Amino acid sequence: MSVYPIILSQTMFTHRDNLHYPFEERGLQFGDGVYEVIRIYNGSYYLLQEHVDRLFRSAEAIKLVLPFSKNEITNLLLDLLERNNMSEDGKVYLQSTRGSAPRDHTFPKNVEANVYAYVQDLPRNKKNLENGVSAITRHDSRWDYCYIKSLNLLPNVLAKQEAKENGSFEAIFHKDGLVTECSSSNVYLVKDGEIHTHPASNGILHGCVRMRVEQFSADLSLPFVENSFSVDDIADADELFLSSSTAEVMPIVSVDGTKIGNGQPGKITRQLQEAYEKDANIIRHTV
Ligand SMILES: Cc1ncc(COP(=O)(O)O)c(C=O)c1O
Repeated sequence: MSVYPIILSQTMFTHRDNLHYPFEERGLQFGDGVYEVIRIYNGSYYLLQEHVDRLFRSAEAIKLVLPFSKNEITNLLLDLLERNNMSEDGKVYLQSTRGSAPRDHTFPKNVEANVYAYVQDLPRNKKNLENGVSAITRHDSRWDYCYIKSLNLLPNVLAKQEAKENGSFEAIFHKDGLVTECSSSNVYLVKDGEIHTHPASNGILHGCVRMRVEQFSADLSLPFVENSFSVDDIADADELFLSSSTAEVMPIVSVDGTKIGNGQPGKITRQLQEAYEKDANIIRHTV
């Protein structure tokens, strides 16, 4: 639990109970903002620079001027962990919006962006990582700029809720029959030793973990093919897995009630999970 959320625009640290968020706020009223979720293992960030870089890319794409430099935000985020005495596994949620101003669609003048971030505990989901999860497929009804990590998550929220009600972990999105990504993760299909995934175009979020999965594949001499696969291809997949900062590299063992391969996490998925643990410096605690 975060003790000190931070309001970065004023480089101020405050207890979460003292934080009063204005109701005329563009994030609340228009979803006019961007965000990041950054993983923490044993009190240290994983892929911090990649997340900061993406935050700046997202902000630039929506013409939002962040009130700090990449260095400043990086130092503040490091300070945040220290002030919270963070030594466990967790995550930081960071959000920046176009600020607080009387409601009007057009950009407010002379209004500074709001930014806050806070820490939450997040134990690794070892059971799911070991056994794999199930998923459903849903039409991808999102807009054309999914590479922007925007606050507008309603299609993602609705799809994830449907997955949950179905007893599944994720919803796999598809557009015109082609799989894009999941509601809150990237998705990959393994066939004949090759890893297939949607290209890093405007149609998906360019996941920080996806970037690492591409590197792990190269390190393991596994072809990483950025070529969309179809919903129909899923039935013939040898393996399927997803990736995100909170879910890591997670095997998918059934989709819409049909088993993937033999219904167990596959060999290549296991290799990538191992590569992830090594890369993230994960220390396995025995209980
Ligand atoms: C839609 C979507 N795709 C992919 C991802 C994975 O991104 P990352 O690996 O940076 O966590 C996320 C993470 O939240 C997401 O929301």
